[in-house]
Amino acid sequence: MDPLMAVLCLLSLYPGLATAAPSCPQNVNISGGTFTLSNGWAPGSVLTYSCPLGRYPFPVASRLCRSNGQWQVPRATRVTKVVCKPVRCPAPVSFENGVYTPRLGSHPVGGNLSFECEDGFTLRGSPVRQCRPNGMWDGETAVCDNGASHCPNPGISVGAVRTGSRFGLGDKVRYHCSLNLVLTGSVERECQDSGVWSGTEPICRQPYSYDFPEDVAPALGTSLSHLLESTNPTQKKNENLGRKIQIQRSGHLNLYLLLDASQSVSEEDFKVFKDSSSHVVDRIFSFEINVSVAIITFASKPKIIMSVLSDKSRDVTEVANSLENANYKDHENGTGTNIYKALNSVYNMMNNQMERLGMNTVAWQEIRHAIILLTDGKSNMGGSPKPAVENIKEILNINQKRTDYLDIYAIGVGNLDVDWRELNELGSKKDGERHAFILKDTKALSQVFEHMLDVSQLTDTICGVGNMSANASAQERTPWHVTIKPKSQETCRGALISDQWVLTAAHCFRQAEDRSLWRVSVGDPNSKWGKEFQIEKAVISSEFNVYSKKNQGIPEFYGNDIALLKLAQKVKMSTHARPICLPCTVGANLALRRPPGSTCQDHERELLNQMSIPAHFVALNGSKLNINLKTGSKWKNCIQVVSQDKVTFPNLTDVREVVTDQFLCSGTEEDDNPCKGESGGAVFLQRRFRFFQVGLVSWGLYNPCGSSNKNSRRKAPRGRIPPPRDFHINLFRLQPWLRQHLEGVLNFLPL
Ligand SMILES: *[C@@H]1O[C@H](CO)[C@@H](O)[C@H](O)[C@H]1NC(C)=O
Ligand SMILES: *[C@@H]1O[C@H](CO)[C@@H](O)[C@H](O)[C@H]1NC(C)=O
Ligand SMILES: *[C@@H]1O[C@H](CO)[C@@H](O)[C@H](O)[C@H]1NC(C)=O
Ligand SMILES: *[C@@H]1O[C@H](CO)[C@@H](O)[C@H](O)[C@H]1NC(C)=O
Ligand SMILES: *[C@@H]1O[C@H](CO)[C@@H](O)[C@H](O)[C@H]1NC(C)=O
Ligand SMILES: *[C@@H]1O[C@H](CO)[C@@H](O)[C@H](O)[C@H]1NC(C)=O
Ligand SMILES: *[C@@H]1O[C@H](CO)[C@@H](O)[C@H](O)[C@H]1NC(C)=O
Ligand SMILES: *[C@@H]1O[C@H](CO)[C@@H](O)[C@H](O)[C@H]1NC(C)=O
Ligand SMILES: [Mg+2]
Repeated sequence: MDPLMAVLCLLSLYPGLATAAPSCPQNVNISGGTFTLSNGWAPGSVLTYSCPLGRYPFPVASRLCRSNGQWQVPRATRVTKVVCKPVRCPAPVSFENGVYTPRLGSHPVGGNLSFECEDGFTLRGSPVRQCRPNGMWDGETAVCDNGASHCPNPGISVGAVRTGSRFGLGDKVRYHCSLNLVLTGSVERECQDSGVWSGTEPICRQPYSYDFPEDVAPALGTSLSHLLESTNPTQKKNENLGRKIQIQRSGHLNLYLLLDASQSVSEEDFKVFKDSSSHVVDRIFSFEINVSVAIITFASKPKIIMSVLSDKSRDVTEVANSLENANYKDHENGTGTNIYKALNSVYNMMNNQMERLGMNTVAWQEIRHAIILLTDGKSNMGGSPKPAVENIKEILNINQKRTDYLDIYAIGVGNLDVDWRELNELGSKKDGERHAFILKDTKALSQVFEHMLDVSQLTDTICGVGNMSANASAQERTPWHVTIKPKSQETCRGALISDQWVLTAAHCFRQAEDRSLWRVSVGDPNSKWGKEFQIEKAVISSEFNVYSKKNQGIPEFYGNDIALLKLAQKVKMSTHARPICLPCTVGANLALRRPPGSTCQDHERELLNQMSIPAHFVALNGSKLNINLKTGSKWKNCIQVVSQDKVTFPNLTDVREVVTDQFLCSGTEEDDNPCKGESGGAVFLQRRFRFFQVGLVSWGLYNPCGSSNKNSRRKAPRGRIPPPRDFHINLFRLQPWLRQHLEGVLNFLPL
């Protein structure tokens, strides 16, 4: 029993002991880095060191405060001072049929390795590789091959040693890593019939190395799309993916999400696991495949939150709700990490389902299974999880012909004492795929799942899917956003609400103009993804007339400031162009995960549910800016200041003459104010990773964009009279008009 395990067992048996025990000393500084504590200086708390990019904590990455008030000292290390040491990449041990330079014992971050082949051999992989700040080489293993065998030369990855040099059918090669590097991938590979090696390429890693989100996301995405393609006969196959996929007539996917809620995972990080899982659930259900999702949280014991045996596991709303209700505190009395038991509960679930459906039935045999295990590190209880994986493989009858039926993703998160060997053993091994990952922190994990939400292949007009990745472009974040040019210049913004219709403001257009010159720019106008569309039809509200109240002493009036444009062609859906969800439609109802019988009123109650609702609009430079929409008494206060605008409205007796119920109001102190050219753009908010347009930018009392610089806007001076206010057409109030003109375009719910 290792020391960590001993302490955790003790804690779970005698929870009262912990509070009485002394606290650990505070002399734990790391030179050049920082640390966090999972539970202050109290016993049971885990101290985690972190270093800047390109460095790693040495000799330990984390320490446990023991019940005796002393920091745990790992065996074989006499920790005196913890420092941040520079990361280094391993050197090749051998390279066949070629040469590499330079020849060093290990390589600094930023250093390069170049490979060249002897005559008669062709280089596959990367001729130059650079050492990255996580201690991993970029690019792919360089191989000098002459193509003479049944299988291609499988190569020798950096730091690895291979035995076996025949690559004919049935030949085997074996790998191990030099020094103290850790092998991930397959130890043994066999040359198969198909001319492909079994298993996955072995990579030798520094024990302290971790993955960057940009490495993990494509790997996960590829693996998952394999899964989705194989379960969905209507989804087109991607030719680039090496593995042949058997199309199933009646595919069904079981997805098991296992979330670590042990003590070393803080409650905050557990929430990130939950949120990340929520992304996956969203993503999986957005494909029209038959899927059941199980949710299991675990520490010393697993807790089944949702079972695939329940009909509810096929319902996205039920799954999302139960995930939301998963509670960290459920595991307060047993806070160890028992991955074996967690996986065994999956095995039991499978067993029950098999019994229910019958072992020899097609219904059972054609279910595909994917397990995503989110954990901060190695299991410290229950022994090796491997027997549970073996049981699972056995019950699913996983053999060479059925590898498609099981995928296990083992994702380690955190700086803790992560055990690569264990994660690697858990993860599936398939050609050209990776199933085991270690990420630096939960933020990286969120990023990964955000990247997994790759909808670029999705040609459906699924609404309100914006890219929430930190690295997404402005247009990818708000792909519905379009620019409108009624003249030679752009004057207004708008939003795609279907693949051919744009919603915008009426005041952007003058009836007399030559409509054949109007253009709508969709996608990112500054990139190859931008495209200009002509307009087939413009529907400008006939009730809009800016001068309609002139004889009442109101020089400008923006009631019914709404217009629809039908583009001359359909927009091809992509990550840069996709409609936003319009409330009160069936699409929005699905995105909100409301039951089918919901009404427009239900949507209004759900979306405009507080007195002050955080919402957004898109600035001229594409950035998403923040406002707060006011309702109820706050709305009344918000609009009242219009009476102070004696310049525009000198004779105003009732503010409601100008600001009718049609308008949403924002622009109080903490809000950004839209500029003139931002009129017509969507006012939108986010629910459950989806976006909903509740309004459109119409008019305001203050224009913060004086200059031509798109990146700057002036905040109104304090005490300005009138104070800034912005008014947006409330789409809930213009339902009759929208329904009249979008009949057959969108499916509306009853009012
Ligand atoms: C640890 O570092 C912090 C900030 O550098 C310093 O304020 C504190 O005194 C140090 N503590 C010890 C015990 O060295
Ligand atoms: C490695 O190669 C890259 C790109 O070719 C170059 O920018 C970098 O300076 C090289 N690094 C060293 C240490 O020579
Ligand atoms: C995101 O951008 C940062 C900085 O621009 C870059 O270092 C990182 O690799 C990017 N991550 C992804 C997932 O693309
Ligand atoms: C999904 O399941 C339903 C019933 O459970 C079945 O009728 C349908 O054919 C299945 N669809 C696919 C694509 O397997
Ligand atoms: C943990 O144990 C305490 C004391 O026995 C009990 O009151 C509490 O309900 C338990 N918590 C859980 C989640 O079982
Ligand atoms: C989000 O953006 C990233 C980076 O551009 C991309 O890799 C990913 O596929 C995008 N995801 C979605 C859902 O568009
Ligand atoms: C306001 O009323 C005054 C006096 O009745 C009138 O002269 C003026 O034209 C009105 N202003 C507007 C903008 O209607
Ligand atoms: C875009 O403009 C806003 C102000 O309108 C500014 O706050 C923001 O920083 C700008 N974004 C970029 C990327 O320059
Ligand atoms: Mg743990």
